[in-house]
Amino acid sequence: MLKTHTCGELRVDHIGQTVTLAGWVNRRRDQGGLIFIDLRDRWGITQTVADQNNIAAHAVMEELRNEYVVQVKGRVRARPAGSENPKLATGSIEVEALEVTLLNPAKTPPFYINEEAAVDETLRLKYRYLDLRRERMRNNLVLRHKITQFIRNYLDGQGFIEVETPILFKTTPEGARDYLVPSRVHPGKFYALPQSPQQLKQLLQVAGVEKYFQIARCFRDEDQRGDRQPEFTQLDMEMSYVRRDDVMNLVEGLITALVESVSDKKILQKPWPRFTYQEAMERFGDDKFDLRYGMELQNVTELAKGSGYKIFDEAEQVKAIVVSGGASYSRKQIDEMTEFAKSFGAKGLAWAAPGGAEGARSSFGKFVGEDRLKAMMEKIGAKDGDLALFVADKATVVAGVLSRMRAELAARLDLADPNVLAFCWVIEFPLFSWSEEEQRWDPNHHLFTSPLPQDIPLLDADPGKARGAQYDMVCNNYEVAGGSIRIHDRKLQEKVFQLIGLPFEVAQERFGHMLEAFEFGTPPHGGIAPGIDRLAMLLAGEPNIREVIAFPKSQQASDLMAGAPSPVEPKQLKELHIAIEG
Ligand code: AMO
Repeated sequence: MLKTHTCGELRVDHIGQTVTLAGWVNRRRDQGGLIFIDLRDRWGITQTVADQNNIAAHAVMEELRNEYVVQVKGRVRARPAGSENPKLATGSIEVEALEVTLLNPAKTPPFYINEEAAVDETLRLKYRYLDLRRERMRNNLVLRHKITQFIRNYLDGQGFIEVETPILFKTTPEGARDYLVPSRVHPGKFYALPQSPQQLKQLLQVAGVEKYFQIARCFRDEDQRGDRQPEFTQLDMEMSYVRRDDVMNLVEGLITALVESVSDKKILQKPWPRFTYQEAMERFGDDKFDLRYGMELQNVTELAKGSGYKIFDEAEQVKAIVVSGGASYSRKQIDEMTEFAKSFGAKGLAWAAPGGAEGARSSFGKFVGEDRLKAMMEKIGAKDGDLALFVADKATVVAGVLSRMRAELAARLDLADPNVLAFCWVIEFPLFSWSEEEQRWDPNHHLFTSPLPQDIPLLDADPGKARGAQYDMVCNNYEVAGGSIRIHDRKLQEKVFQLIGLPFEVAQERFGHMLEAFEFGTPPHGGIAPGIDRLAMLLAGEPNIREVIAFPKSQQASDLMAGAPSPVEPKQLKELHIAIEG
């Protein structure tokens, strides 16, 4: 090795030893007679110092600049009293340079690596290898490593085995667009990159791998958001002979132990609370939500209807959230919230403050009368000093607007403790939702999800009411995992294909291998897939998953460093039997 120790390792115990360090110049301070070089590697920073009496070492250090790669051989000594740096793990010592070797110079980096400063993300992604040298990014990489390491050990201890499944495969049923790979050998035919290993992990249950997991790469061609990447990583799991609670309990145990082992975040509630989909929609207006603060949605439809206020009378639903202390909001702030509501489809925002510095104020009191306004305030628990915000519309619009407004206000009011992770489960999702556009039922999770046993008769009677054996793990407004107990019976699977309007021949073409497998003695099975990127983002306290992925794609699904996607040689296209139009 070109080094005997890391730059994060030396302590007072090492004083007197001769060591060799190697790393980047993090910072250079020239005090004339003395030149200090803070040397940085993956493990930390160590101060090295060359005295002018050591002519050779001093001369090399004079030439050094930030990010030069250097080797320093020297003697560990205590820092002079008063010059220790308690912020640095190595801050009690320094290395007196005896020999300094420049291993490689560096161009001036396009942004500071040795300090945390706001840098344009495009630049960061273009020079990702430099971005990753920064402490925060390095910590995120280490955290991610710890997460997967912990998961592997934990699941091994529970009798799981990790099995790799193909990347070149066939279309999978997660509902996004596929990334396709043309076949050279089979003209006109394509592989699809897996949106998840869903089919394969189920087939592994038919194969007898009763407890399977994989840290699996998944590919989905869908619109990018802060919590979405075209390729991402799941902890993919599947088990045989399990019921819903077995899967949920196992994963809850794993994630709880993981959080407590690799981070100092606190879990809000243990065991994690469970909400039915219906309850989640009523209280939060969404199937993913944040439990770190209140401001739950409150239904005032009954009181609001028949009030004489046209907007309330004509709406399918009227719901409110109460902003504690919001009575002090100015008209301008309320107008801003109104614009926010409109941007998510509301026609407007009704509001009322029962009492505050300016007395009672409201946008609709004069229409509904004092008594009714008072009754409404009482029903939603709005007190003097509070502000109640109302949306009256179709139930879907009310939910969409108020759920977002709840999150927006919490962010503005700084209500969510960043050190807390509020995990919970959402269960009993509807199995299908109705697609107006396609005039057919769409599976809510995916088409292998089993109905709850008691709801199977509803598949004939009223498919929209049938609930699925699906469970989602939610934390701090993100869906972290989704899973379900699967259909293991061919007849039931065919029934679902029929309901979602998948003609038998198409189902046979796409999933014939699954249907056939199900006839060879398939154990009842179920599974789940927590997103590793989202988990790492939450544990690192980062605002998006790009910060916890070494080489993420941009919002436009490009790799800005390598310039992918990129054109290919005409010869390659020809081999693949592909012609580009236009
Ligand atoms: P689902 O589609 O719900 O389920 O995905 C499971 C989890 O994967 C993560 N995830 C993503 N992360 C980053 N970028 C994306 N584009 C992205 N899409 C999904 C989320 C999500 O909760 N096969 C089923 C699982 C099962 O039924 O066992 C599946 O993939 O954290």
